[in-house]
Amino acid sequence: MNPDRIALTVAADQPGPKISRHIFGQFAEHLGRCVYEGIWVGEDSPIPNVRGIRSDVVAALRAIQVPNLRWPGGCFADAYHWRNGIGPRAKRPLMRNDTWGQLETNAFGTHEFLDLCAQVGCEPVICGNLGSGTVQEMHDWVEYLNAPVGTVLANERAANGHPAPYGVRFWGVGNESWGCGGVMTAEYYANEFRRYSGFLGNYEKTRLFRIATGPGVDDYHWTDVIMRECTNPRYNGAVMDGLSLHYYMNGGIPPGKVSTPLAATRFDHDGWRTVMAHGWFLDELLTKHTAIMDRHDPARRVALCVDEWGSWYVNDAGRPANELYQQQTVRDAVLAALTFNLFIAHAERVQMANIAQVINVLQAMILTFGEKMVCTPTWHAFGLYTPHHDAARLPVTSDAAMLTHDGLPYPRVSATASLAADKSVTVTLAHTDPAKPVTVELTLEGLPAVGSAKAGRILTAPALTDINTPDAPHRVATKPWTDFRFDGSKLTATLPPGCVAVLSFAK
Ligand code: AHR
Repeated sequence: MNPDRIALTVAADQPGPKISRHIFGQFAEHLGRCVYEGIWVGEDSPIPNVRGIRSDVVAALRAIQVPNLRWPGGCFADAYHWRNGIGPRAKRPLMRNDTWGQLETNAFGTHEFLDLCAQVGCEPVICGNLGSGTVQEMHDWVEYLNAPVGTVLANERAANGHPAPYGVRFWGVGNESWGCGGVMTAEYYANEFRRYSGFLGNYEKTRLFRIATGPGVDDYHWTDVIMRECTNPRYNGAVMDGLSLHYYMNGGIPPGKVSTPLAATRFDHDGWRTVMAHGWFLDELLTKHTAIMDRHDPARRVALCVDEWGSWYVNDAGRPANELYQQQTVRDAVLAALTFNLFIAHAERVQMANIAQVINVLQAMILTFGEKMVCTPTWHAFGLYTPHHDAARLPVTSDAAMLTHDGLPYPRVSATASLAADKSVTVTLAHTDPAKPVTVELTLEGLPAVGSAKAGRILTAPALTDINTPDAPHRVATKPWTDFRFDGSKLTATLPPGCVAVLSFAK
């Protein structure tokens, strides 16, 4: 078999589970320049804004159809007291952000966040404070948000400008409670989760979707204990709707391996392959955590929510280390595509995910430079996957053997196919080789009505280490892709090294 020629087969007549659009979610934390400068510039800023929220950023997020946004952390969530962020802005306390060591004006609080979600057209995901807060404080926040006018808290919300309940349904009960969220054991957190969750109200039509702190990476004991203790019918077994999982691709796995910090933009082919293989390690994590969840919840009622993921490199030397600012290359776009493909392959369990983070932090969609902004390669990858939102997954098989790097397997070409409500079929292809092109022969089985291939798009870069900057904002960007042959059921295409491509077939 020629390794540079791969045959893929899509079973277009076998639609599987729905690919929840919520796996394409985002995450905004009060960290570095994510919220302040990245989102919030204030109403008096010369940067065009609507009620203090920058309009260029909103437009870029709308363009990739962001389905949900998680806030205010991260670790910051377990230090955040929501009352500091409501009411007249001039009266809000100026504080130190103890989690990340920055100044916190509280100018961006509950109402501003929900205004941002409305402008972007996405659902809010709020992570409540279990680490340094109280049950009463979390209860009150939910009531403030969701109760109809008539209670003291709902009336306060109305006085602050929003009479209608916000209807926030996605709710995280703490964050990384095994670490920055309180350094708890799984057994202790399970009790806390049940205690807090039981006091969070469902109001009118909004039934809360309660997400428990899940494991960090490969802590299978944590998953086992939380699933056992929080889905047990003896203790309100329906109280947990989601279990989170955090996995950052930083070169520090498999467990026990000495982590060599990875550079964001200075890498060779070896460094490229490290990211591919360590990114694909998520497959093992999803498989093993899912198997544990299946034991306790065979009906698959509880969703696995990968509510923090992405590349985490050595911070950019030009910015303070506590900003977690990094540039990115087409390597990150391919990593994002591999990760989406894994979420989709595990769609029976994975129903929500949030990349870290949306702007200026870690694997961001957008980087701001004062009044300017650029979209990153990862933003482009999210854009290429929008046809898969809420579509039905189609099986894809490959004749290719897996590659290995650092003893970890990963595919040469990873593909996702889906069937949308309008009966169009979309295929996305991620090519992981940094050096050589590959020829893909993709057969579409079982859908004779597929007649035409729309023009596709491809994301690639002149050089693997190229980046987007204010002076060259489109160096790494998608462009039309027509360099393929399609005979009605078989697509033949040669993909360049290191790229992501998408093609839709109209009915
Ligand atoms: O995303 C940055 C940090 O990474 C988050 O605050 C925390 O949850 C995780 O450890």
